[in-house]
Amino acid sequence: MNAESRTRLDRTPEWTALVKHREEQDGVGLRELFAADPERAARYTLQVGDLHVDHSKHLVTDETLRLLRDLARATDVEGLRDAMFRGDRINTTEDRAVLHTALRAPRGTVVETGGEDVVPGVHAVLDRMAAFSAKVRSGEWTGHTGKRLTNIVNIGIGGSDLGPAMAYEVLRSFTDRELTVRFVSNVDGADLHEAVRDLDPERTLFIVASKTFTTIETITNATSARDWLLTGLNAGQEAVARHFVALSTNAGKVEDFGIDTANMFEFWDWVGGRYSFDSAIGLSLMIAIGPERFQEMLDGFHTVDRHFREAPAEENVPLLLGLLGVWYGNFHDAQSHAVLPYSHYLAKFTAYLQQLDMESNGKSVDRDGEPVSWQTGPVVWGTPGTNGQHAYYQLIHQGTKLIPADFIGFAEPVADLAPGLAAQHDLLMANFFAQTQALAFGRTPDEVRAEGVPEELVPHKTFRGDHPTTTILAKELTPSVLGQLIALYEHKVFVQGAVWNIDSFDQWGVELGKVLAKRVEPALTDGAEVPGLDASSKALVAKYRELRGR
Ligand code: F6P
Repeated sequence: MNAESRTRLDRTPEWTALVKHREEQDGVGLRELFAADPERAARYTLQVGDLHVDHSKHLVTDETLRLLRDLARATDVEGLRDAMFRGDRINTTEDRAVLHTALRAPRGTVVETGGEDVVPGVHAVLDRMAAFSAKVRSGEWTGHTGKRLTNIVNIGIGGSDLGPAMAYEVLRSFTDRELTVRFVSNVDGADLHEAVRDLDPERTLFIVASKTFTTIETITNATSARDWLLTGLNAGQEAVARHFVALSTNAGKVEDFGIDTANMFEFWDWVGGRYSFDSAIGLSLMIAIGPERFQEMLDGFHTVDRHFREAPAEENVPLLLGLLGVWYGNFHDAQSHAVLPYSHYLAKFTAYLQQLDMESNGKSVDRDGEPVSWQTGPVVWGTPGTNGQHAYYQLIHQGTKLIPADFIGFAEPVADLAPGLAAQHDLLMANFFAQTQALAFGRTPDEVRAEGVPEELVPHKTFRGDHPTTTILAKELTPSVLGQLIALYEHKVFVQGAVWNIDSFDQWGVELGKVLAKRVEPALTDGAEVPGLDASSKALVAKYRELRGR
């Protein structure tokens, strides 16, 4: 749909119908919905790839879902989806195509943008990555002094860090345990210090990951890493070639930094930073798990891409999850969304999703630059579930806020757990199932009384219930399943951005802070006057200098 012809979202009849429906549904709870439909659990469960997705514990009826799909149709979600897959320049503020789906397209698929098929280039880089990974893993690729490289340090930030750092944790049981793999992102020197302090420079490979190769945090850390390496090796610039590789779209800047472009793995401007982890940005992961496992992960992504593109609206899981978020954010005033994995290995998954979702949909003007008058992206948060149960679940159960949540769990523990530890899995998963049950159905005052609880404690021990959750269950956490999960969330975020009519693929909101930091730095180091600095910041800078004895 073109910009001129699109009616403001909250003035469409489909939106108005949802407002009215929400009023009619007020007070209709999950106990009632389940009682009225014995088939609800089965009817409200969908399958995509290996993911079994139960959305029966949501405050929705068939009518709600129908009205939400009507809204998706009215906002032409499918049209924008097809434009994305086709390679149209749907990132309008940066005038770029959005083709992360081409990164996992099988060999031989044709995906064109600007008249060029991008798939051969994708596979050429994947092949180079595979060859390089194989050499590092086998020890054929050695360092400057001829020793095998067993320490891999990825230096990057945002999309050039969160994806590989998260996936390395998720897939630890598939990694070569002889390798030490670390991730440095923070410009706080402590990050690099802790990452390399016990490493042998002779055995260390640095992967400098930066789409633009201009990000100050990454370039600063990479420069310090180079100093550490050359000092440790007591060598000159010639040692860099065996110990540094770059992942970037910017060959010129890579060369300026002193990394031979023969050691650069490229990607393209049609891959957004937060959508880049299945590009060359995944090199550290590929070295850790091997090219075959990496390919299984890409195939997992592709499974969900195909589903998103081809499944009818009624069965389309990313569409459904996106619309459920719209339902709570726009019609129930929910402000946040929790993602609660019941897997230790998914500890960094929610942090990864924070960038994916919040950098994509944290926008307040629409595609035409007009302020939106509806809620856009939620605050995304969460940590592994059992730990959360003993920390913040209290607020989800009995607080005043509505917090929709995704519960992600697996039937099998990872393969290499000792039998005694594997036996703990049922206890873990008992918690998983118990929590969504408690959140949905709560405990009524009468049920509390029936347990003999003194009357004055009844309100305290009552659980209102009706806290909506999606349960995502898979047999086991494999590379393919990880790819499926990420693609599921990528497309969910896409659906929401399409409905809200925002550009989910730019990130202008991070620019101002970068510009101001550059301006303030000279004031910290040599007391330079910063033109236009506000009174509060000026006083804080002065205090900082005083505390540092400057
Ligand atoms: O925070 C802004 C941002 O541009 C992210 O979108 C991106 O993932 C990150 O910085 C890192 O950028 P680069 O890969 O260019 O170093």
